[in-house]
Amino acid sequence: MPEQKQKFSYYLKLLYPFIKKDKGLLFFGLFAMLVTSALRLVDPLILALIIDKSIPNQDLSEMLRYGFMFIGVVLISGLLSYLQIVLLSRLGIKIITQFKGKVFSHLLKLPVGWFNKQPVGELIARVESDSERVKVLFSDLSITIIGNLLFFVGVFIVLLYRDWKTTSIILPIIAISIIAYSVLFRYISSFFRQIREKYAIVSAKITDYVQGMQMIQALNQEQRVIEDLRRASKDKQRTEIKTSFIEYGAQSFFMFIFNVVFVVIVIMLSAPKIIVGTATLGTLIVFIQYIYRMIWPLMHLSENVMQMQRSFVSLKRILELTALQTEDETFTGTQVPAFEHEIRFENVSFAYEGEDWVLKDVSFSIPKGKKIALVGPSGSGKSTTISLLCGFYHVQKGSVLVDGSPLRGLDFRAWRRNIGLILQDIYLFPGPILENVRVYNDNVDVDVVRNAISVVQLDDFIKALPDGLDTELAERGQNVSQGEKQLISFARALAFDSEIIIMDEATASIDPQTEARIQRTMNSVFGGKTMVIVAHRLTSVLDADEILYFSEGRITARGNHQTLLRESEDYRKLVELQLLGGKDE
Ligand SMILES: Nc1ncnc2c1ncn2[C@@H]1O[C@H](COP(=O)(O)OP(=O)(O)O)[C@@H](O)[C@H]1O
Ligand SMILES: [Mg+2]
Repeated sequence: MPEQKQKFSYYLKLLYPFIKKDKGLLFFGLFAMLVTSALRLVDPLILALIIDKSIPNQDLSEMLRYGFMFIGVVLISGLLSYLQIVLLSRLGIKIITQFKGKVFSHLLKLPVGWFNKQPVGELIARVESDSERVKVLFSDLSITIIGNLLFFVGVFIVLLYRDWKTTSIILPIIAISIIAYSVLFRYISSFFRQIREKYAIVSAKITDYVQGMQMIQALNQEQRVIEDLRRASKDKQRTEIKTSFIEYGAQSFFMFIFNVVFVVIVIMLSAPKIIVGTATLGTLIVFIQYIYRMIWPLMHLSENVMQMQRSFVSLKRILELTALQTEDETFTGTQVPAFEHEIRFENVSFAYEGEDWVLKDVSFSIPKGKKIALVGPSGSGKSTTISLLCGFYHVQKGSVLVDGSPLRGLDFRAWRRNIGLILQDIYLFPGPILENVRVYNDNVDVDVVRNAISVVQLDDFIKALPDGLDTELAERGQNVSQGEKQLISFARALAFDSEIIIMDEATASIDPQTEARIQRTMNSVFGGKTMVIVAHRLTSVLDADEILYFSEGRITARGNHQTLLRESEDYRKLVELQLLGGKDE
């Protein structure tokens, strides 16, 4: 990770690829900026020439010439400053678009385990807001900060040249006032931070409450919710009012100092010299004009510097995301898996975090073409076993072997293509049902999809939809019931005709009748395939070749239904429990 010290060059190096393509934009933008800053110095000087030369000489034509020059400089300067903003903003937008694309495509390649530790909504929001800040760094911020610094240096040189005595008195006073204002601004910005935090609290509360609206109404909690929101908003409002009071007070005070006090000081210092002829009226005008032009940028200096610091923090956060190890890096091999005989778990121990072992010395084999069932209490490690099988995590001890080769050394994409994964919590993409079944894979024919749909008995459901298979699913499939979602995911596995079918409590949301119907069809359709089933209802595992009974991360019993009934008390209890629930065997 980057150290504080290597900051600038480190970032420049990482950023260079993004800027490279648009070097032209950057070059012309900076050039426009340089010229704009220089031109800002020029027009008061022309004014000084008119006052000091043309008027005393009573040279009207020279005065006209200077007048036109003045107009020309102002026009060109306006044009160029427009150009610099356009060019650099464009650069900023282009860079940030590439940047976001890179970050999101990188996120997609990260191991699943990484997302467990991240609240994803928050993460995405942070990437968005960080990107915005980085964008500003390239456009507005660089224009204001670099442009103004150039201008200040110019002012300093011109003033020293014209009247070094007055300059050396006035500049330190300006510097001290600016430092005082910065200190005050830092103080005020702690209030800005408070406001931001309170705003976040209010919107988080609103989001939570809106999501739980049904429960709030069912529990008659509307009044309490309103009270809670009112309190949070009131709190935010109080801080806002106090802040604006201090902020505008400080601003007005300093504006007064710069606008009035400095001008008075300059006049007091210059007037005696003008009277004795050691300084000119033009110089006084230049001083006053420059001071006016510096006020606004100077007042915003500390704000800009703070923005820049924040932009750098954002930039750092984003760049750190792109530096995270992707799955391509955690899998060491490229060997294409040939699954001919068996998948073996050999003395596998696994922990999501530190030494919290979730699986302890687990060994079993999944022979090709067999049906293996995982049963046991919740939290015993069944889903974890499935995740390891799919290569979502890497084991810490022991190994997962495919025909003797460690999973870690295989091409994980090719491995996952072998697997049809059906989970309890189904993910549907925003898009038509057709594409949700074949997952944008044109090799899967529409007829294959139709067939799969009919196997899972969704024909009637599809027929009732306005556009049939082309009906768009709402966000995360909100317009589809949980059971229908599961059936769609069954159809997905069918359409892909994967070699290995894995189901994790996949029938939990389907009613027993539908389940039984699907089961019969599935058995014939998936017959001959390798199946790994975490069963919600025991009915679906009675015919398994081997049932593994999981308890607290270990396999405590194994065998087929009959064997387990005889040998495992836990299994017997489980069966009794489900039979008591009124299921037929
Ligand atoms: N992503 C995760 N991060 C940390 N702990 C987890 C994670 N997923 C599951 N666990 C823990 O691992 C244990 C086994 O969980 P799991 O494999 O889901 O059990 P099962 O599927 O048998 O109900 C539980 O104690 C659970 O809290
Ligand atoms: Mg589970």
